[in-house]
Amino acid sequence: MKLILGISGASGAPYAQRAMSFLAGPGRAAGIETDVVFTKTARVVWQHEIGTNPADLGLRIWPAGDMTAPFASGSSQYDAMLVIPCSAGAMARIAHGISADLLGRAADVMLKERRPLVLVLRETPFSLIHLRNMEAVTMAGGIVMPAAPSFYSRPKTIEALLDTVVARAFDRVGIANELVRRWTGLTEPNEPSRKNEDGDD
Ligand SMILES: Cc1cc2nc3c(=O)[nH]c(=O)nc-3n(C[C@H](O)[C@H](O)[C@H](O)COP(=O)(O)O)c2cc1C
Repeated sequence: MKLILGISGASGAPYAQRAMSFLAGPGRAAGIETDVVFTKTARVVWQHEIGTNPADLGLRIWPAGDMTAPFASGSSQYDAMLVIPCSAGAMARIAHGISADLLGRAADVMLKERRPLVLVLRETPFSLIHLRNMEAVTMAGGIVMPAAPSFYSRPKTIEALLDTVVARAFDRVGIANELVRRWTGLTEPNEPSRKNEDGDD
């Protein structure tokens, strides 16, 4: 699998760091080839929120303005693109086909080639403009999933909480992972949380 990992300037660089670590380790071992592109602001946010050099994670990182990258062309046949985190601004540019930087161009290519594009949007609250851009991306075939962590796997660390988002994003582009404990239902029908739901003991 050939994957493009886009990282934009929304809060949530740790999501991108978790995704990069997985893709450089178990992902690579499973045959996933990853190309990374940061927007200019994504680097600023990463420095503020994490402070390390993302290149140390060992994935190939392309400059934001390098339109000669292979995945700037549909002929390069990448399988999927994940943008995590996705800023409202990046989503707006993608929704309107504005290929002003490599991330925008790569996303535009994925939509025109009808290949999976997943945007892990991080903004709150949403304006009508955001909602309309979500609709436009969805109508064009993309998937917009807000960075909304879940708690039913009872995450004990920030990393485990981040993984509740990263795992679902990986699921959507077809990357097999065991980052979270999957929901299999409550263990027993007579668990305390189910008792009395029919009004009897
Ligand atoms: C520390 C920091 C946190 C930010 N968090 C968000 C955010 O959560 N969501 C968002 O849409 N924009 C956020 N922004 C604003 C974006 O960085 C800004 O709109 C920028 O133009 C996005 O550029 P990009 O889409 O090219 O990465 C944040 C900016 C900074 C400096």
